[in-house]
Amino acid sequence: MLLSAEVIALTYYRVLALAYSDPVLQVACERILLDERGHVAFHRAVLSREFATMPPAGRTLAVLSWRAFMSVTAKAVAWDHRAVLALAGVSRSGFEAEVRRSTRRLARMLRSPEPSAALAS
Ligand SMILES: [Fe+2]
Repeated sequence: MLLSAEVIALTYYRVLALAYSDPVLQVACERILLDERGHVAFHRAVLSREFATMPPAGRTLAVLSWRAFMSVTAKAVAWDHRAVLALAGVSRSGFEAEVRRSTRRLARMLRSPEPSAALAS
């Protein structure tokens, strides 16, 4: 579950920095994003090892369940933070789509035996 919050944070703090023209907030968001990328990379490394011990069907079930959870969670976060999204010029559906893309990319890395690309951007 912690990983879920961190993946959503990657989109949320990027958007929050766009919502306000406050340089202190923008620096804070950049710092938070840097931290969160490290946290996600850590989870990816740990979970990849765990996934490697699971049967393929178990991996698929875990990934599909997590992606469904993330989709619903992104929708709830987008609704709850709709004012910030509006200030940033980001639609709720755009926010949700970005979270789903990050989730899908990370899920792909977890399912493959050797994750290759970093979850950046
Ligand atoms: Fe984190």
